[in-house]
Amino acid sequence: MNPMESNGRYRERIWESHLAADFERDVLAGLRAPQKAISSKYLYDALGSALFEAIVLLPEYDLPRRERALLKQHATRIVEKIGKPPHLLELGGGSSEKTRMLLEEAIAQYGSVRYTTIDISLEAVRTAAAQLLDTYPQITVEALVGDYFQVLADVEPRSATLALFLGSNLGNYPGRRGSDLFAAIHAALSPGDMFLLGVDLRKERAAMELAYNDALGVTAAFSKNVLARINRELGAEIDLANFRYASSFDEATGSIEAYLIAERSATYALGAGHESIDVAAGERVHIESSHKFTREEVRAMGEECGFVEREFLTDDDDAFALILLERSPR
Ligand code: AVI
Repeated sequence: MNPMESNGRYRERIWESHLAADFERDVLAGLRAPQKAISSKYLYDALGSALFEAIVLLPEYDLPRRERALLKQHATRIVEKIGKPPHLLELGGGSSEKTRMLLEEAIAQYGSVRYTTIDISLEAVRTAAAQLLDTYPQITVEALVGDYFQVLADVEPRSATLALFLGSNLGNYPGRRGSDLFAAIHAALSPGDMFLLGVDLRKERAAMELAYNDALGVTAAFSKNVLARINRELGAEIDLANFRYASSFDEATGSIEAYLIAERSATYALGAGHESIDVAAGERVHIESSHKFTREEVRAMGEECGFVEREFLTDDDDAFALILLERSPR
């Protein structure tokens, strides 16, 4: 089904930011900085997204399975707390089995559900919307296509909203950016609305590091794909074999920090202007931070942005948490 043919059950709005991401400008600026870096948002082109789908199947990367088990256990109670036919507002594409668990629970309890997805990829959103509309006659879907910050700034609060930010995606917004996102979600909600957040928790170093260093090398391929993307889209000829992937937990940031490290010095020409970028032997290019949260940290972040913690649901070994927050009046 094309979502456009869903008899008024589908609406779509597209923000400029959906097109505005300037890959060439950002990559050049990032590779010229003293600490070279490429934003982790650029890991997700078509191949990168497919490799991430493979990561979630890896035995080492257990975050999705832990989150799914928690949702299975608690979805009924979470949805009950809304108390009215709900509006689910998800940061992310909505194709996951976890979203479906909540949608099905809402339909079972209230007979219908309104679902809004915010995502940067028009294609991903349309594919997910078409599947949801086809599967659930009781659903209406609104797709807001653009950057989370821009879209949230324009969203009118709706009644009985449960905002969703799952998969520990908040961990990829290090430092202030995470709090800023919390504040943007707060602004898009009404007092009494809920926010369900899924985050990976701080634990033993070896367990955290294992999830980002799988034996098959899928995470390494996912990470190095950003260089392949630069070659594909910016006409560069970066020798992928000159880089190795390395990631470890950094006590100072509380995050797994991932890098691509050059084995030998090299010069690469990038983009329309064939601008040259030098890398030294051993130089590191930062590609991703995956923050690991403590309960106190999430609570403080929530309180700072006007949320009250209602539930902190975790598995037996305190590895992953689902946190249900209520938007307070201020
Ligand atoms: C999407 N995000 C929450 C993942 C993470 O754990 O930071 C991305 C990922 N990177 C390597 N493995 C998974």
